Amino acid sequence: MIKLGVNIDHIATLRNARGDFFPSLVYAANIVEQNGGDFITIHLREDRRHIKDNDLFLLKDNVTTYINLEMACNEDVLQKALKAKPYKVTLVPERRDEVTTEGGLNVKTNFAKVKDYVSALQNEGIKVSLFVEADISQIESYKNTGAKEIEIHTGKYSLAKNEDQIEVLKEISSFAKKANACGLTICAGHGLNYHNTQAICMIKEIVELNIGYSIVTKSLFNGLDNAVKEMKQLIIQSEKICLE
Ligand code: PXP
Repeated sequence: MIKLGVNIDHIATLRNARGDFFPSLVYAANIVEQNGGDFITIHLREDRRHIKDNDLFLLKDNVTTYINLEMACNEDVLQKALKAKPYKVTLVPERRDEVTTEGGLNVKTNFAKVKDYVSALQNEGIKVSLFVEADISQIESYKNTGAKEIEIHTGKYSLAKNEDQIEVLKEISSFAKKANACGLTICAGHGLNYHNTQAICMIKEIVELNIGYSIVTKSLFNGLDNAVKEMKQLIIQSEKICLE
């Protein structure tokens, strides 16, 4: 079964708008877990615009599943990760002025740095994933960092329309097959919503999805419990179709 990681950064954004302590991230994480979310994803950004250091430690101690911490190759954030020891870290690129993570890590050009971060985290028993583009020419570099897992950036897929979207889906599928054949575990995320997730689930190499914005925004109208349940249901349905 494909695992669903729910990114709750946007709940922190709402909390920070009033500088208060609610809505509680721990409460949100527990609702996610009780309604089909398999783990909780948070991004500790360099500028701490949503998730704060304290959230990382509180969530780590209070979730019943586990934390997937997204972070850039930044020394200060690395120290927090090494102290909190989340189950998994996903290394992502980060630009201060971006609204959200705009592309995958360019591992080839940042190879030495990425490799150092992978080793530092793995030495503390933390699983490491790399958030990358579906770029076949970089598969060897992804692997040579020592990371055992990658998350495919599905932003391009989510923005494409009609035939273009099918083309991008094919590219992701053939990339996933090649990367998996090289021994990498394949996850995916970014821009996935209630309309475009099922097609991604048809790619059988993909074992995990990270979804945030669509679930949190739907929760404003339908409740977080229903928003998570509905997404989980779509994933389950698509797996059933694959098996038929
Ligand atoms: N995966 C990674 C690595 C991300 O950086 C993000 C955005 O924080 C997501 C998944 C989730 O993207 P979205 O909020 O568009 O669902």
